[in-house]
Amino acid sequence: MRITVFRKAHFNAAHRLHNPNWSDKKNKEVFGLCNNTHYHGHNYEMEVSVTGEVDPETGYLIDLKILKDVIKEQIENRFDHKNLNIETEEFKSLNPTAENICYVIWQILSKHLDTRYDIGVRLYETPRNYVEYPPIR
Ligand code: NI
Repeated sequence: MRITVFRKAHFNAAHRLHNPNWSDKKNKEVFGLCNNTHYHGHNYEMEVSVTGEVDPETGYLIDLKILKDVIKEQIENRFDHKNLNIETEEFKSLNPTAENICYVIWQILSKHLDTRYDIGVRLYETPRNYVEYPPIR
């Protein structure tokens, strides 16, 4: 039986959206308040999905303790209470938009979970704005 399990998690982080190839004026026009020189924060909420075949011996798809620990060690410890632009390797030269953060999280989790699983990540930047990778269609 194929099935999907989910785990929710969250982290708080600061960021600034900025394209160094553009003028300050263009950055302000495109990114608005998110271009604030002094950064701003979000309470990021994520939903991680794991899809695959249930192990008939345990009845589990994945031990949720393992999923919880991987998310904690690889995502929360890396990004929680950090300035994403300044303090993380991942966003030193990659604009930390919700799209890019979601994709980076997906890449990290995919690397640290068994390849027999299909991983999905939904990232909420605000309660109303969220992104998902892989894309729906
Ligand atoms: Ni923002």
